[in-house]
Amino acid sequence: MDRIQKVIANSGYCSRRKAEELISKGLVKVNGNTIYELGTKVDSSDTIEVEGHALKNQNKVYYLLNKPRGVITSSSDDKGRKTVVDLIDSNVRIYPVGRLDYDTTGALILTNDGELANLIMHPKSNINKVYIAKIGGLIGKAEINKLQRGVIIDNIKTSPCKARIKNYDKKTDTSIVELTIHEGRNHQVKKMFESIGYKVLKLKREKIAFLDISNLNSGEYRILNPKEVKKLYNEAKN
Ligand code: URA
Repeated sequence: MDRIQKVIANSGYCSRRKAEELISKGLVKVNGNTIYELGTKVDSSDTIEVEGHALKNQNKVYYLLNKPRGVITSSSDDKGRKTVVDLIDSNVRIYPVGRLDYDTTGALILTNDGELANLIMHPKSNINKVYIAKIGGLIGKAEINKLQRGVIIDNIKTSPCKARIKNYDKKTDTSIVELTIHEGRNHQVKKMFESIGYKVLKLKREKIAFLDISNLNSGEYRILNPKEVKKLYNEAKN
């Protein structure tokens, strides 16, 4: 059971504050009855109407997690390892959208909204993902151009993408490269570098679409607001 204003906000209809306003104005019905009580508790069996519209996406939740290293991107693990779902205190069943490797860190969306998850993971989705890769050795413009044009991994060429060198550390002989891709093939970033002769030593996903993890410490997460959910839907559909 959740407070009605939370359920309305989680559905993406409007903000929690706006939902409270609508409740006070008598514009929200539960199972056909107008409610005025802000604390009214509802569950998934209740039918909610807001301003005459049946609420869609009822009880949908969306989280952005800064995934730490050493956690698996799955809902459960038969070897008993910690999963990304274990890191989130949610009273509904959620699952990760796409996957980050055990040793990859950074931005990961978790939700119980299968429609949005499918849109984001669809091979034709235009959702950009920005990765920061630390690789062994000095990388040059020619290799960066190869990545940008597309390289062959698992016998298929990757789509054109953006790549730029951020730094080279002479002492450790490592380079930092920012790679922006919209595909989500298995181990894609590691394989792309491997295909041009470089080993990824560390990998972080800094951004998915417009969502970045700059305000989240490792292992921290936050709930996406309705505007962000709407924007994600729009970007994924384009
Ligand atoms: N590409 C990889 O190689 N690994 C990840 O975790 C994500 C993208």
